[in-house]
Amino acid sequence: MTVESDRDIEALKIVGRIVALVIREMAANLRPGVTTRELDDIGRAIMEKNGAHSAPELTYQFPGATCISVNEEAAHGIPGDRVIRAGEMVNIDVSAELDGYFADSGASFMVPPVKAESKKLCAATRAALWKAIHSVKAGQPMNAIGRSIETEATRCGFRLVRELTGHGVGRSLHEDPEAVWNFYNAGDQRILKEGMVFTIEPFLTYGSGRILTEKNGWTIRTSDRSPVAQYEHTLIVTRGEPIITTMLPA
Ligand code: CO
Ligand code: CO
Repeated sequence: MTVESDRDIEALKIVGRIVALVIREMAANLRPGVTTRELDDIGRAIMEKNGAHSAPELTYQFPGATCISVNEEAAHGIPGDRVIRAGEMVNIDVSAELDGYFADSGASFMVPPVKAESKKLCAATRAALWKAIHSVKAGQPMNAIGRSIETEATRCGFRLVRELTGHGVGRSLHEDPEAVWNFYNAGDQRILKEGMVFTIEPFLTYGSGRILTEKNGWTIRTSDRSPVAQYEHTLIVTRGEPIITTMLPA
C-alpha cells in the first residue's frame, strides 16, 4: 500500500509492534526441548490478546499462526511436533493483521551452543538487511536495496537465495510492489515513492542458494540442505530515513 494519512502510519505501527512483540516472546521461549508447536501457541496467544490475527492463516489458510523454519528450511516451516535441539538455527517469521492493516517481520535465532559459522551467517544477513534499509529513501531507485544486500552477502562470503524476495504489504500480506529483489537487478527501473510500504527480507546461506518446496506443499528449504538465515522488517518510505513499523520502542 501507499500510506495516505497519519492514521495509516499509526495503524501500521500498531500492528507492526504486535508482530515485534510476538517474535520477541517466541524467541525468549526458544530452548532445546521445546516444540515448534509450543512456540507457535505462544505467538498465537499474544496475537489474540492484542486483537490481531495471523496473516498467513487469514490469507492462505497456512497450518499455523507463525512460520518456524529450522536450519536448512528457509521459509514457511509448519509448526508441529518437531523438537528444537541444541545448536540449531531457528527462523521465526510472523505476520499479522489488525483492523485491516498488515505487518510482516522475521528473524533467525541460534540455540546454544552457537556454531561460529551460524553466528557469522546471522551477522551477515542482519547487516545486509540494515544496509538495505539505509538505502531506502523517496526518489532513490528500488534496485539499490538488492545492490546493498548482494554487496554485503558477497563481502561476507555467502550466497543469496535469489528466488525469495521482499514484497509490498499493508492492506494485505502480499501486494504491490511485487518483488523487492535481494540482488542487484539492473533492469529494475522502479523508483521509491514517499509512503510506499514493503518488506525487505534477505536470505543468506553457505550453499548454492537453490531452493525447493517440501512435499507438505509449504516449506521451502535449500536444495543442498545448507543452513539459511533471514531477517525481515516492514517499512514505510519517507523523504528521510524510512519508518520501520516492526520494531519495539527502545
Ligand atoms: Co515474513
Ligand atoms: Co515477508
